[in-house]
Amino acid sequence: MQIPSLIYLERYRNEGTRTYSSHAATTEAREDYRPDSNRDRFDLPLFAVPREQMLVYTANPSADLSAVYLDDDKAMFAIHPQVLDACPQDPYVQRTLNLCTGRGSLPVTPSSSTRTLFAVDRQPPHALKVHFPFRVSRYDRRMRHEVLEQAINVSRELEAGIGLLDPRFAFLREVIAVCHPNLDVGSAREENWGCLIRDMRPFPATRGSTRLVPGFALYGRDFYDPETPFLLTDLIGDGDPLLFVLENIMLPIIHHWVACFLHFGYLLEPHGQNVIFEVRKDNLISRIVHRDLSVGIDMRRRRDIGLSDSQLNGYNRMEHDKFHSIVYDRFMGSHFFDRLVDVCLDHYEGLCREDFTRPCKEAFASIFPEHRKYFPATVWYFSESRDRFNKPFYEDTGLAPDWRP
Ligand SMILES: Nc1ncnc2c1ncn2[C@@H]1O[C@H](COP(=O)(O)OP(=O)(O)OP(=O)(O)O)[C@@H](O)[C@H]1O
Ligand SMILES: [Mg+2]
Repeated sequence: MQIPSLIYLERYRNEGTRTYSSHAATTEAREDYRPDSNRDRFDLPLFAVPREQMLVYTANPSADLSAVYLDDDKAMFAIHPQVLDACPQDPYVQRTLNLCTGRGSLPVTPSSSTRTLFAVDRQPPHALKVHFPFRVSRYDRRMRHEVLEQAINVSRELEAGIGLLDPRFAFLREVIAVCHPNLDVGSAREENWGCLIRDMRPFPATRGSTRLVPGFALYGRDFYDPETPFLLTDLIGDGDPLLFVLENIMLPIIHHWVACFLHFGYLLEPHGQNVIFEVRKDNLISRIVHRDLSVGIDMRRRRDIGLSDSQLNGYNRMEHDKFHSIVYDRFMGSHFFDRLVDVCLDHYEGLCREDFTRPCKEAFASIFPEHRKYFPATVWYFSESRDRFNKPFYEDTGLAPDWRP
């Protein structure tokens, strides 16, 4: 079996997966900028701006990435072309144009999230996560200052604490953020925005050749050929489907979720888009690579383990238990694991859903005995009503969880 490239999978092996909520298929991205467009790449405008005029955050970027985006007196700032075109009056677009001392462009191809863009044929492989104030799925996709700074904080902390996690855990480091300072000090929330550089080499580094397969590509249909078998069944091959899915996918992800929570208070969001499988030549899954470090942070847990908050800003700090259920029960459980179960029940005889949920519940309870202290008893999800910043409220579905006791 030939596994297509990460870029192909990100763009064209994601059909039929965006059904997990009534918003999942929404996109305001222009056709050319969508992951499933036919255009192989587009140019991302880059602006050289004086570094001292910008807020710059770093988390151990490699020297070669720093050399491209930062030097002593200059930073490279990226603006999505749809923003340049549709929002010319935006104060930070204007500030960029006013400050810029040179212009360039970078060929990019959109990832599955639309606003994260892979640099084409650049070493080291990296992506730019850019401000995109248009609706994709439930949210418009801004990259505000506090979000950027916190992603860098989390990347730095997770990198330093990597020894606390098991050898099958890897993540994509978010290593540079460049942001405008706030021009509207009286605003209720900082709206200054910027861009983030993500190193696409799974951390920690490993030797040997591997493929990267996004979670959704295991159960997504091929855009060009809907008859192509699911990658999940290809990877299972002659193996036992239940053992394969539990041991290579579900149980390691549960272990990673719990470990990140226990050691850092992080609420990973392991839905099909945030999880990438590292697959070896012999088609074995060697590691789970987590992407997207804009996680909720449970400050109750951090206090319980005496972990300082001095390196964190105020973004996504949580003092409640509701979001835990949204990410664990819904993002991971319903949006992702349920889809894997559906494929298995369709393809293999003699299996039932509980064959998957039961061992997952047992594992969660055994590695996380104090889970009731931090989790609500029922499943929570987003409400259709929103706060003044257009963020959805959370609501109790009243349902009993399927993927934890
Ligand atoms: N199969 C899928 N499951 C979940 N999300 C998907 C899927 N395919 C595409 N997406 C898109 O991925 C994004 C998921 O949101 P999320 O906040 O995790 O990512 P992001 O922060 O935009 O980007 P990144 O993951 O690159 O950091 C949404 O834009 C959603 O529409
Ligand atoms: Mg994501």
